[in-house]
Amino acid sequence: MKKKIWKVAVIGCGFFADAQYFPYIEKEADAVCVAAVDIVPERARHACEKYGIPDCYENVYELLDQCDFDIAIDSASIQAHHEINMAVLGAGKHLISQKPAAPTVEQLTEQIETAKAHNVKFSCVPIHPMRYDLNIAKQMMADGAIGNPYYAKCNLSHGGPEYFQYRDADPSWFFEPGAGALVDMGVHGLQIVTSIFGPAKALSCMAKVTTPLREVRSGAFDGKKITTDSIPDQYVITLDFGDGKMALVDTGFSQKASRAPQLEIFGDSGTISFTRPYMENPIPDVYIDAPERGVRGWMRPMEWVDPPRKLLSQCCCLRDLIEAVENDAQPTLSPEHARHVLEIMCKIPTAVESGKTVTLETVF
Ligand SMILES: NC(=O)c1ccc[n+]([C@@H]2O[C@H](COP(=O)([O-])OP(=O)(O)OC[C@H]3O[C@@H](n4cnc5c(N)ncnc54)[C@H](O)[C@@H]3O)[C@@H](O)[C@H]2O)c1
Repeated sequence: MKKKIWKVAVIGCGFFADAQYFPYIEKEADAVCVAAVDIVPERARHACEKYGIPDCYENVYELLDQCDFDIAIDSASIQAHHEINMAVLGAGKHLISQKPAAPTVEQLTEQIETAKAHNVKFSCVPIHPMRYDLNIAKQMMADGAIGNPYYAKCNLSHGGPEYFQYRDADPSWFFEPGAGALVDMGVHGLQIVTSIFGPAKALSCMAKVTTPLREVRSGAFDGKKITTDSIPDQYVITLDFGDGKMALVDTGFSQKASRAPQLEIFGDSGTISFTRPYMENPIPDVYIDAPERGVRGWMRPMEWVDPPRKLLSQCCCLRDLIEAVENDAQPTLSPEHARHVLEIMCKIPTAVESGKTVTLETVF
């Protein structure tokens, strides 16, 4: 039987779609990109020319009216995600949403319910639960390599989207209401630590605006000044998972460089440390304290006989979504996990303003 080739439409033809979706759609899955959509028509046209995509559209509604496709990838600016996602899911199409998929828990619940009502699969990035190094670490923890894992420390920051990422689009929207360092960067750290320990029960947080005025340092808007004093750009988040487990997430747009490991997981018999870029599929370092064998020290775990899958690109979520459709299974990047991370992000302003611990309700 002839293999189905899944037809994909990408909505939002900016920096990320250009770097991680358009070039990898055909490499990651039995799929082809049939449409590029952007409210700035030149961007969609440019993507069509660059990647040989047959059709472009100015918005999601034109796409839904005129294009025959199976799966949409929403890679538009954060503030546009909810409207796009509701339109796609409501039209009965499978969807991968960039983060965060919605501004509130209630709106993400609405998306989840719409996906269920239309019997379509819905997947929410980031892709950390699919990471090779994280899955190796989870296996090591399950095997007892570091004893009882009780603390995760995650450093996930960069200097700001205007600082290092070359972009044709104006990065000002990253600092406007609905966006900001927490939902753009913090979401990664929060997804990582909840992938390790599961749903958190409570959080506390301090946050500051460190840099009230920024200047774009590359790309088409090089030199543009942006007032960035309304949303914090540095967050120190602590999470309580119950059962003696907790995590620290240090995140924002205020760290131009760092040599801190992105992630360390501590247990009563050792540590797992992630010091290399995760897209290179590294095996994390492990420190084991084994007094019964008279040894302690850093070591490199053995290669797995049956290892987790390695990552090729951030478009790996497409393969995962297609497998979920074909096997009628839940995608690895579940919207319920995204909703829990969103609840944390939505409650952080309350924790910051009150200086108190705030409890969490959602699970996944
Ligand atoms: N996972 C990661 O590591 C990572 C990294 C960077 C960006 N992102 C995410 O990717 C998404 C896009 O970010 P980017 O860096 O590409 O930004 P960008 O500004 O370069 O691109 C966004 C594009 O979306 C378009 N757009 C805005 N509203 C739209 C709408 N209603 N319909 C169609 N197009 C619309 C804009 O015109 C622009 O071309 C964001 O959600 C961002 O958080 C993820």
